Amino acid sequence: MSVQTPARTALITGGSRGIGLAVAGELLDRGMSVCITGRKQPGLDAAVDELAEGDRVLAVAGSTADPEHRARTVALAVERFGSLDILVNNAGINPTFGPLMATSLEVVTTAFHANVLAPLGWIQEAVTAWMGAHGGSVVNMGSIAGVRAQLGLGAYTASKAALLHMTRQLAFELAPEIRVNAVVPALVKTVFASALWEDNEANLLGHYPLGRLGTPRDVAKAIAFLAGDDASWITGEQLVVDGGLLVNDAVSEPAY
Ligand SMILES: NC(=O)c1ccc[n+]([C@@H]2O[C@H](COP(=O)([O-])OP(=O)(O)OC[C@H]3O[C@@H](n4cnc5c(N)ncnc54)[C@H](OP(=O)(O)O)[C@@H]3O)[C@@H](O)[C@H]2O)c1
Repeated sequence: MSVQTPARTALITGGSRGIGLAVAGELLDRGMSVCITGRKQPGLDAAVDELAEGDRVLAVAGSTADPEHRARTVALAVERFGSLDILVNNAGINPTFGPLMATSLEVVTTAFHANVLAPLGWIQEAVTAWMGAHGGSVVNMGSIAGVRAQLGLGAYTASKAALLHMTRQLAFELAPEIRVNAVVPALVKTVFASALWEDNEANLLGHYPLGRLGTPRDVAKAIAFLAGDDASWITGEQLVVDGGLLVNDAVSEPAY
């Protein structure tokens, strides 16, 4: 006998392209309704067309760092779909290339606003509006850059590391009703990372034991797993999705 579970609602920040759009598609395939965000309306309109599930897709334009946008979007999602069960804190920025020591505190603040404070703000809104009373699941978008130092990505690495530890802190605070996990991807072929791979892909492949860079779908599958009931005994965890990059680094380090 099949057990019917009520339809769920997921909010995915930065869902108009790349990994966020793939997550939206994956969760729609699993029967959920989705609310996607992004700053630019044309990108959102194109995403809604591509997802082709009109009734189950809501798109709200705004910056993840804007508190009013966060409150309004959460309210609209609950009003339209009747719940907010899953939050995917996917939107993130890399405002500059360079070492942390050469980055102005203003720019570092911008990175922390979008990559740390905004995800916390989304979680606070979601918990207040729905998850606090009904439970839920949060997946934060980490990065390999958040677990090791990386040349030229100073502000980004520090902010992603903070997000990963915030994931553990919130998993502790919000259990048992709400699970909070993170994914930790290596290089994924999207617009965001194009400067890192577009003219350089062949040179990078040697670092990846699985022989290719990531796709948005690779990460979306991991997020869907952590978000859903198959991960119901997992919280505060970070799932590395990296084609073996970290393993490769471990074996190619000199032995001390
Ligand atoms: N690609 C990689 O190699 C990689 C690896 C590890 C982690 N990540 C993380 O994955 C996440 C998504 O990146 P992606 O590679 O999928 O990028 P992407 O293809 O460029 O997509 C980014 C999405 O986020 C939206 N967005 C960007 N800035 C935003 C803001 N300030 N407020 C609201 N929405 C915003 C974009 O729409 P608009 O431009 O219209 O705002 C778009 O929908 C980021 O957190 C990134 O740090 C990426």
